[in-house]
Amino acid sequence: MPCSVNIQMVHCRNSNVPFSLTPFLAVHLTGTKYSCGEGGCGSCTVMVSRYNPKNKKIRHYPVTACLVPICSLYGAAVTTVEGVGSIKTRIHPVQERLAKCHGTQCGFCSPGMVMSIYTLLRNHPEPTPDQITKALGGNLCRCTGYRLIVESGKTFCEESTACQMKGSGKCCMDQEENCICILFCFVEICTKLYNEDEFQPFDPSQEPIFPPELIRMAEDPNKRRLTFQGKRTTWITSVTLSDLLELKVNFPQAPLVMGNTEVGPRIKFEDEFYPLTLSFYSTILFSGVTIGAGYSLAQLNDALGSIVSEQPKEKTKTYRALLKHLRTLAGPQIRNMATLGGHVVSRPNYSDLNPILAAGNAIINLISKDGERQIALDSKFLERAPEANLKSEEIVLSVSIPHSTKWHFVSGMRLAQCQENAFAIVNAGMSVKFEDGTDTIKDLQMFYGSVGPTVVSASQTCKQLIGRQWDDQMLSDACRLVLDEIYIPPAAEGGMVEYRRTLIISLLFKFYLKVRRGLNKMVNDFSGGLEAQEKFMSALEDFPIETPQGIQMFQCVDPRQPPQDPVGHPVMHQSAIKHATGEAVYIDDMPPIAQELFLAPVTSTRAHAKIISIDVSEALALPGVVDVITAEDVPGDNNPQEEILYAQNEVICVGQIICTVAADTHAHAKEAAKQVKITYEDIEPRIITIEQALEHNSFLTAERKIEQGNVEQAFKHVDQIIEGEVHVEGQEHFYMETQTILAIPKEEDKEMVLHLGMQYPTHVQDFVATALNVPRSRIACHMRRAGGAFGGKASKPALLGAITAVAANKTGRPIRFILERGDDMLITAGRHPLLGKYKIGFMNNGVIKSADVEYYVNGGCTPDESELVVDIIVLKSENTYYIPNFRCRGRACKTNLPSNTAFRGFGFPQSTVVVEAYITAVASQCNLSPEEIREINMYKRISKTAYKDMFNPEPLRRCWKECLEKSSFYARKQAAEEFNKKNYWKKKGLSVIPMKFTVGIPYTYLNQAAALVHIYLDGSVLVIHGGCEFGQGLYTKMVQVASRELNIPSSYIHPYETSTVTVPNAVFTAASMGTDTNGKAVQNACQILMARLQPIIRKNPKGKWEDWVNHWWGSAFISLLISLLRGYQTNMDWEKEEGHAFPYYLYGVSCSEVEVDCLTGAHKLLRTDIFIDAAFSINPALDIGQVEGGFIQGMGLYTTEELKYSPEGVLYSRGTNDYKIPAVAEIPEEFYVTFVRSQNPIAIYSSKGLGEASMFLGSSVFFAIQDAVTAARRERGLTTSFTLNSPATPELIRMNCMDQLNTYLIWSIIWKVSVKQTNKNNLKYQVTGSHINRI
Ligand SMILES: Cc1cc2nc3c(=O)[nH]c(=O)nc-3n(C[C@H](O)[C@H](O)[C@H](O)COP(=O)(O)OP(=O)(O)OC[C@H]3O[C@@H](n4cnc5c(N)ncnc54)[C@H](O)[C@@H]3O)c2cc1C
Ligand code: FES
Ligand code: FES
Repeated sequence: MPCSVNIQMVHCRNSNVPFSLTPFLAVHLTGTKYSCGEGGCGSCTVMVSRYNPKNKKIRHYPVTACLVPICSLYGAAVTTVEGVGSIKTRIHPVQERLAKCHGTQCGFCSPGMVMSIYTLLRNHPEPTPDQITKALGGNLCRCTGYRLIVESGKTFCEESTACQMKGSGKCCMDQEENCICILFCFVEICTKLYNEDEFQPFDPSQEPIFPPELIRMAEDPNKRRLTFQGKRTTWITSVTLSDLLELKVNFPQAPLVMGNTEVGPRIKFEDEFYPLTLSFYSTILFSGVTIGAGYSLAQLNDALGSIVSEQPKEKTKTYRALLKHLRTLAGPQIRNMATLGGHVVSRPNYSDLNPILAAGNAIINLISKDGERQIALDSKFLERAPEANLKSEEIVLSVSIPHSTKWHFVSGMRLAQCQENAFAIVNAGMSVKFEDGTDTIKDLQMFYGSVGPTVVSASQTCKQLIGRQWDDQMLSDACRLVLDEIYIPPAAEGGMVEYRRTLIISLLFKFYLKVRRGLNKMVNDFSGGLEAQEKFMSALEDFPIETPQGIQMFQCVDPRQPPQDPVGHPVMHQSAIKHATGEAVYIDDMPPIAQELFLAPVTSTRAHAKIISIDVSEALALPGVVDVITAEDVPGDNNPQEEILYAQNEVICVGQIICTVAADTHAHAKEAAKQVKITYEDIEPRIITIEQALEHNSFLTAERKIEQGNVEQAFKHVDQIIEGEVHVEGQEHFYMETQTILAIPKEEDKEMVLHLGMQYPTHVQDFVATALNVPRSRIACHMRRAGGAFGGKASKPALLGAITAVAANKTGRPIRFILERGDDMLITAGRHPLLGKYKIGFMNNGVIKSADVEYYVNGGCTPDESELVVDIIVLKSENTYYIPNFRCRGRACKTNLPSNTAFRGFGFPQSTVVVEAYITAVASQCNLSPEEIREINMYKRISKTAYKDMFNPEPLRRCWKECLEKSSFYARKQAAEEFNKKNYWKKKGLSVIPMKFTVGIPYTYLNQAAALVHIYLDGSVLVIHGGCEFGQGLYTKMVQVASRELNIPSSYIHPYETSTVTVPNAVFTAASMGTDTNGKAVQNACQILMARLQPIIRKNPKGKWEDWVNHWWGSAFISLLISLLRGYQTNMDWEKEEGHAFPYYLYGVSCSEVEVDCLTGAHKLLRTDIFIDAAFSINPALDIGQVEGGFIQGMGLYTTEELKYSPEGVLYSRGTNDYKIPAVAEIPEEFYVTFVRSQNPIAIYSSKGLGEASMFLGSSVFFAIQDAVTAARRERGLTTSFTLNSPATPELIRMNCMDQLNTYLIWSIIWKVSVKQTNKNNLKYQVTGSHINRI
């Protein structure tokens, strides 16, 4: 298979070569990262370049390597991140700028980001900001919040929209009245996080040339069919159409793989197997409106774009509808791989293009050996009527898309969980033709996607409406008829039945309005229609995807500070360049070890059952399989600390590991794991939800309680009492690097070495030693970095590490255990779902007198961190409000779900939503705004918390005041109200949310740290500590600390990996404490070393650092020092319900503004302002990264991220397709972050730990959505007291914005199904009167 990788020619002849490009690259080039394996995350992005001999041009395009079959790369030049630039040779400007603009944190997504921007630059050396945002649409990042990544790309744009003040002190926005800059331009506030002057220039002429050999190959007129013979499969690439047609006759069952974006996922996730695959090396050309089937969707986009720019508008309605969907369909990589032919033929039920093509009367041009024929791309074809199918020997040559005409309207509409790169929840393509000069319907077509197993046509409805006028009565009948015709059964796959039915008519209504407006423009005197008032026309506009912009403000460093002292400066992440070049080594990048085996898990498919038998015979018989490991093989304790390594006798959740298979390759291990047969006998009860746990009295922990005042008494003296319940669902960590472990057994003394990405090496060491029954001293755990963690790598690596170590112990061979994304999501679980119940007593003026709040979290099947999570929930449950009579209770429920664990914020982000929900409910009852209730009840002076800890809320008051003022909150709120009056279907909402956060943990022993500092005789310094680096920049900050303390440049200091060998018994890196504790330990160590150097310095005060340390006689005193720090003293007496639970407080306020589409439930985040009390930031770039990244992660929790379980406890959402973390299109269009100064003398350099706090600030988006929905409900005369559960998905938003369209739905529901129902995802709805509520 001749192709090139990074300009080197590659000829793969080996039959062991894997199918997909990612594992092939991984053998030598580890820069390309593997994360989801389904084309959904972009981590594996590489650039493919192809030479077109016809136009002699080279096309560069991004692809996701995980879906690219190697055999399809005939004649292609592949460029990976290593081919772009390297530290060893020269780094590329794209890599440099991503690093220097702080666009990397954990760095796992960075090579993919580099490749997306690099490919764009190869095609557009001077891109627009919009092109940058588009280019990144298929790349996910879980750490940064994207803004800084976009910012790095924008440095290549001629006109950057970023306000960086350019060092002139003059704000680029100071003409704008509401510009936040103006208010700061006169104080010592810095806004520059990087210096553009340091960037090397970008010279597009310096890029590598396309390999001439590939040009020769492409131009060779005698190209021949290529056959690639693997062990089990054969791949044939045809180079001529006649040859392909011949093959189609001979091998009718073989798929014709073009983009492989449909076949690839089917092979991987649905176990489909094709012994023979066909491919075609040519792009079938297009002409006029006939588009070649081999055109990628990106090429289709370009072709339609040029037709639209050349042709009159009335002719291009179908093309424009297609272009709109092509902008958001998947990401750029998939759009560049997927072909029009593949899309049309595979006919996915969610197709975004087929409904429009069908509505536009497209024709499919087929060819076979027997000749050509045409078939209509119509309802028969889409609904897979046998007579409309392709014959097995036929292929699609092209698709003809007719022009539209003056009296012909064509539109496409879609709604997805996210704006871009997400399958539609419902989409539609519609067209209507009128009798010329009239509004009488001549022809009508309506096609819907994602409402059944295929795209469906509402043909009966359309037929009945022919001859009708385009008016309100027609619309009314159309809604009723279409709901009758398109029936989604209650147990339909994908759930959301009522919502999808609502969307069916909401999208129809949008089409109706659009056509109405079009008709009205053409002829003014149509009568009898819904008044095409401006107020209703707001339904038509889709939310645009804008390039984000913003300003970040932080303290300037004191000008008197020595220039070499890096503390307080926005220093780049210490590994940033390595992240961007792909040279940062993660566990899976470590080279293969002799004799190494791979492990694959076999997990329970039952939530609660007895294991009757485990049959491993078939698995053991497969090639490459070495062993199957079960609980029997654990030499020590299989149940450390009430956790379970391998299930024995009984399973207690779906996803529990029952055994693992060890084999010579990952593929063999996974294949064999599928062949292990387990039989079960279900055990009752099976408890899945919190409600079921309460019913069965099933708990993991005892109740925690905090109480002050006399709650019951106070309820007797209040004006009003409200009671309510709020659900906050869980969250998947979705770190980009899935859990990966390498365990290497040593030959001597039962030693074992483990490499893994983790937050708590001591815990791993403990579990491994316990499982192997050896002293901890025999177990060495190492880590350099993790590709994201967020709490998910605190306790789970201990379990997975022990499982791996048992396998390594049994087989006596090194074991590599890499969790696939789906397994990681299934096995390791995530944030605890929470149910909050409240009873609040308050006065009519909004003063809250009494609160009784109960929290229940779903802990899953084992304790894990649930007790600590409940502690934190209860202790932080008052947020910023003083309620004199306050009782809060919390408890973790035991259920048959995988055990939930630590997650950024430890329960605080869930429980505080309940607090803000009851504040909002009180506001509604008092007829006041939520901000007024917040202000009235907020702590105002030095006070004690409900657990009697003293604190000073002064920074909170400042954040609150500044946020209200500088975000122009009240002016914007008024503007939103004006907007809402004018727009019936779009509503704006604002919220401003305050936060009182406490850093750390209420147990002193978890506040300890230790550091090991070596000074070598050449002056270089090695810094080691017990903290783990997973993107937050801990190592970078430790270098800054050591640099200041030793008074040497950072370049002298090298941070070394974290390991149980160098720093024993270290506590976890969590709770925003990494810098606080490890920083003090490093500081302490450096100060002791400096004290020891003092005699030498005194003797030679003018000497240099190297002179002082280069004294062999003193080396023992200065070259090694381990310093232990006891850390903060915190305590909590749960008996007395009082204590000093946390070392210090941190405050913040965030204000968000959204616009909601009431017809679909989509929302757009317009602007966010964050004011956060950072005290003195040691590194503003890293801290701003934490704040922005945490905010976006929080926003995901509260809006898009939805975990779906079956009633039997099976997790449905196991990948990027079903679980939507925010992508670049979701972040605020305007994003302002301001660090508010305060004092924190107890922390190092008066800093504060900012890792977790901003997660909760993401809830300002949630409450802004609630504000917008409230405006819609108010206008429709509905009660404004309603409960919005989290996440506020499009489904919940739409179903809460009740309107006249819902009446069709309610009528239809009552008619068709029972009033109360449960859908497949166990989401229950109650239809009461005119309301549909989720119950
Ligand atoms: C991550 C991801 C996100 C996606 N998001 C969306 C989305 O938001 N909206 C949406 O609509 N789609 C989406 N898709 C689906 C995508 O549009 C289709 O997978 C794609 O169009 C299929 O084209 P392909 O060339 O890759 O097909 P392949 O996988 O190569 O082939 C698919 C099928 O078509 C047949 N075939 C291919 N070409 C021809 C031909 N010329 N003649 C006859 N048979 C042919 C093959 O035999 C095979 O059976 C997404 C896919 C992925 C992986
Ligand atoms: S790993 Fe390929 S797109 Fe995610
Ligand atoms: S930096 Fe993007 S995923 Fe970590």
